[in-house]
Amino acid sequence: MSAKLQITDSRTNKSYDVPITDGTVRAMDLRQIKTGPDDFGLMTYDPAFLNTASCRSAITFIDGDKGILRYRGYPIEQLAEHCDFLDVAYLLLFGELPSPEQSAEWRVKVTHHTMIHENLKKFMEGFRPDAHPMGMFVSTVAALSTFYPEARNVSSAAVRSLETLRLIGKVPTIAAYAYRHSLGLPYVYPNNNLTYPGNFLSMLWKMTEPQYEVNPVLARALDVLFILHADHEQNCGTNTMRAVGSAHTDPYLSVAAAAAALAGPLHGGANEEVLKMLDEIGTLSNVPAFVEKVKTGKCKLMGFGHRVYKNYDPRAKIIKQTADQVFAVTGVNPKLEIAMELERVALSDEYFIQRKLYPNVDFYSGIIYQAMGFAPEMFTVLFAIPRTVGWLAQWQELVQDPEQKIARPRQIYTGHDERPVQQEAATLTAVS
Ligand code: CMC
Repeated sequence: MSAKLQITDSRTNKSYDVPITDGTVRAMDLRQIKTGPDDFGLMTYDPAFLNTASCRSAITFIDGDKGILRYRGYPIEQLAEHCDFLDVAYLLLFGELPSPEQSAEWRVKVTHHTMIHENLKKFMEGFRPDAHPMGMFVSTVAALSTFYPEARNVSSAAVRSLETLRLIGKVPTIAAYAYRHSLGLPYVYPNNNLTYPGNFLSMLWKMTEPQYEVNPVLARALDVLFILHADHEQNCGTNTMRAVGSAHTDPYLSVAAAAAALAGPLHGGANEEVLKMLDEIGTLSNVPAFVEKVKTGKCKLMGFGHRVYKNYDPRAKIIKQTADQVFAVTGVNPKLEIAMELERVALSDEYFIQRKLYPNVDFYSGIIYQAMGFAPEMFTVLFAIPRTVGWLAQWQELVQDPEQKIARPRQIYTGHDERPVQQEAATLTAVS
């Protein structure tokens, strides 16, 4: 017997059977519930999508209560231990981990799209020296749209696949140029003999030496961080990617929009805010007073809490292990001690226990990035590079989903009823 939700409308005393599939009812099935022929029909009201599934997706699975994260069925812990980022990118986009031959071919393809047009480089030179790297990243990714006008043809699988490769290849280059720009250093061209993270480190930090020597521990740490950040189902940025993509906007503009959402301090911008918070706290002895400030609602404990995880974010656990490997090379970031004390105090406090607030991915990532030599302003850009893969995988899924249409929510109108413009209030100026 198929499951149904029986609804009785007390306004009309009529009853309805609404099918339940995958633990959900279709909002459109409620539209038949009306008080009369002129009634629009029942809608659902869900500001911030607290309880609304917007798509069917086979990419990422999260069980927020148990702290589980899987890409295409594989636990994040195993992917972080056994795979590299480009293979995980392949998995997210194509559904399976690549064979050794597929992996080799995939690497060559991505590597051949790492260069950016010289005019785009000149475009970046126009930014103020103190421009925020995330603003530069968003604008430059959007500007790519003007270099590849064919990307508008989103219904072509060949076009989608080429633009996907271009974006994955070019985002580290744009990110590195944004970083060099903020330091007033000349841009470093990609080196196709290096790995994806190794080339990124070279574009960031190469000076006058003919070949940048990649530290394998730091490159692997960055690769693991990229794996952890690659996708996270329907978060704010991904929802933006899908919403903008649903208008058949080209992928450069859609990724730029998604990155703009990511820049917010409640989303990917939180990693930068965590560092500012740790600076503000300054010493271990200030931790209890800061936690009290959070509890009285004066500020938030940045890097804590999550819409979906009501348990320890599995990514935060892996990041803590990665931190030890990075600190063995760079020396321990003194902020780590404050962060760990904050975590200890918060996790034993009723305020955080009751609300199920745990460290999220952003709590420790910034401490590692800072130890590696990044300024806090770069942290969200480091998040955007791997998340570009997740956005593109979700976009490919959206474009091929026959159930999807342009995203267009309804509203409950709360303004005035119709009213006439009063003559005396009108301010029309004569135009000659
Ligand atoms: N510090 C203090 N209190 C908090 C925090 C926090 N970080 N997060 C949530 N709360 C409280 C919140 O005030 C509310 O309390 P009450 O019930 O008394 O009003 C309760 O916990 C539930 O929070 P919410 O705001 O309804 O939860 P949400 O699902 O709407 O927000 C969140 C999720 C991530 C925006 C929020 O936890 C937050 O602002 N955290 C800090 C920013 C942050 O670290 N963001 C990164 C998220 S993970 C990476 C990513 O998504 O990019």
